[in-house]
Amino acid sequence: MTQYSKRMVIAHWLTLAMLVAAWFLGEELAEATDESKATVLGYLVHMLAGGAVLLLTAARLLFRSKDGTPPVLGQALMDKVAKGTHHVLYTLLFVLPVSGVITVLTSDAIKGISAGDASLLPKENGYEHVFAHEVHEVLVTALIVVAVLHILGAIKHQFIDKDGLMERMMLRRKD
Ligand code: HEM
Ligand code: HEM
Repeated sequence: MTQYSKRMVIAHWLTLAMLVAAWFLGEELAEATDESKATVLGYLVHMLAGGAVLLLTAARLLFRSKDGTPPVLGQALMDKVAKGTHHVLYTLLFVLPVSGVITVLTSDAIKGISAGDASLLPKENGYEHVFAHEVHEVLVTALIVVAVLHILGAIKHQFIDKDGLMERMMLRRKD
């Protein structure tokens, strides 16, 4: 095996797309809340994109256990760092959406969403005492930092080492 399975590749890139969407929609939602103008639809689209990340991650871990992964490539120490980074990414891809679900359940958001009434949703400073919201924010930052490290690693392989690592995460099959 020299590449990731097709379904692992699709899930990797789909996760990236959903992550960018959830991030953007989350920022929009936070801005709307600050202006006390959040809508139920705004919540639903953010929750859908974030929920998709959670489902894709669960599917990915299942595919991974069935399909396996190509053998490590490169220097021993850097491979360990890359492997550790992947584990941290999987953990964050799982706990970040879960912290979002807990934010909804432990705040006024659940009242507004279940009644379909935007006037019941949290207003400006409405998340001030919601611990899960703080955790959600910190995890977003952590995910961005680790994802940037991961992308820098991929760029190094592509343009400095020129070892064809990117092809392992591409749909085009070698064999
Ligand atoms: C990987 C997936 C996710 C990402 C990248 C993400 C990202 C974000 C971001 C960037 C914010 C704005 C934080 C701020 O500056 O205040 C946010 C807020 C929030 N997210 Fe998520 N989120 C994800 C998943 C979820 C899920 C699955 C749920 C619920 C089912 C959720 C519920 C919330 C709630 C309730 C807020 C607070 C909105 C507000 O401050 O008005 N998130 N999210
Ligand atoms: C432009 C953005 C990205 C590029 C170019 C990229 C590239 C790659 C490549 C080439 C691999 C295979 C590494 C190997 O064979 O050892 C990989 C694996 C992986 N990527 Fe990305 N990636 C990107 C974004 C992301 C993001 C945003 C995440 C998650 C937040 C992510 C999570 C992962 C994980 C968890 C693996 C490990 C797969 C496994 O072994 O199960 N990637 N990525």
